Amino acid sequence: MKDEPAPLLELAGARAAYGPIEVLRGVDLRVEAGSVVALLGPNGGGKSTTMKVCAGLLPLTGGELRLAGRRVNGLAAEDAARLGVCSIPEGRGIFPNLTVRENLWVATRTGTRLRDMEEAAYTRFPMLGERRDQLAGSLSGGQQQMLALSRALGTAPAILLLDELSMGLAPMIVTQMYDTVAQLVAEGLSVLVAEQFARAVLPIADTAALMLNGRVVSVGTPGEIEDHLSSGYLGG
Ligand SMILES: Nc1ncnc2c1ncn2[C@@H]1O[C@H](COP(=O)(O)OP(=O)(O)O)[C@@H](O)[C@H]1O
Ligand SMILES: [Mg+2]
Repeated sequence: MKDEPAPLLELAGARAAYGPIEVLRGVDLRVEAGSVVALLGPNGGGKSTTMKVCAGLLPLTGGELRLAGRRVNGLAAEDAARLGVCSIPEGRGIFPNLTVRENLWVATRTGTRLRDMEEAAYTRFPMLGERRDQLAGSLSGGQQQMLALSRALGTAPAILLLDELSMGLAPMIVTQMYDTVAQLVAEGLSVLVAEQFARAVLPIADTAALMLNGRVVSVGTPGEIEDHLSSGYLGG
C-alpha cells in the first residue's frame, strides 16, 4: 500500500455560519503540499467564508479542519499563523494610514525581525523599498497587494490563503501578481486562492474547485473546470 502524505490543509464536511445563517454546508477541499488550488465561483458562494475558516478566523459548526492530517477545529488565528497558515483577506488587510515600513512592523508581532522583514520585502519588490516612508493608502492597488504579500510572507508560511488577489487591479498587474505567486510556489509555498474571476489564476493552478451555495460542487484540473466557465457565470 502506498503511504500518501496527508494534505497540508483539508476541509471535510466543513460547516460554518454567521449567527443563525449557515453559509458553509459541508465543504470538502484539499490542498496538497506544494500545490496551488483555485477556489472559484460566483459572489456569495462562500469562498471568503471558507478562507476565514481555514485561517482560524471563523469557527466550524460541523465537519473538520485538518492541517497536515491533524484535526485543528477551533484553533485561533494566532495558532493557525504559528502552524504556517497565513492569509491575505479580501481588501488586503493593510493599514492605509501607516507607512509601508510601519505596516511591515505591525506584521513582526509574529516574531520576525523588522530588518529581515524589510529586506525580504524590498528585495522582492524594490518599488516598496522606494516607498517605505509613504502611507500605504497612497500606494497603487498593485503596490498595496505587494505590501500585503510581503506582510504575509514575513512569517514564512507553509500555506498562503489569498482572497481575491485580482480585485481592483488592472489585468497586467494581476498577471504580474500571479507570476510572483508562481515564483513563491516554486520556492515551496502552497497556495489556496479564491477568485470570482478565474482567468488570471487558472494558468498557475494545479487544481480548481468550483464553489456554489456553500459547497464545493466540482474539483478538477484547471482545464476541466474552465469548461464550466464557458457558461459565463464566473466572469473574467
Ligand atoms: N459577516 C457576515 N455576516 C453575515 N453574513 C455574511 C457575512 N459574510 C458573508 N456573509 C454571507 O455569507 C454568504 C457567503 O459569503 P462569502 O463567503 O463572502 O462568499 P464569496 O466570497 O464567495 O463571495 C453570502 O450570502 C454572504 O452574504
Ligand atoms: Mg469573497
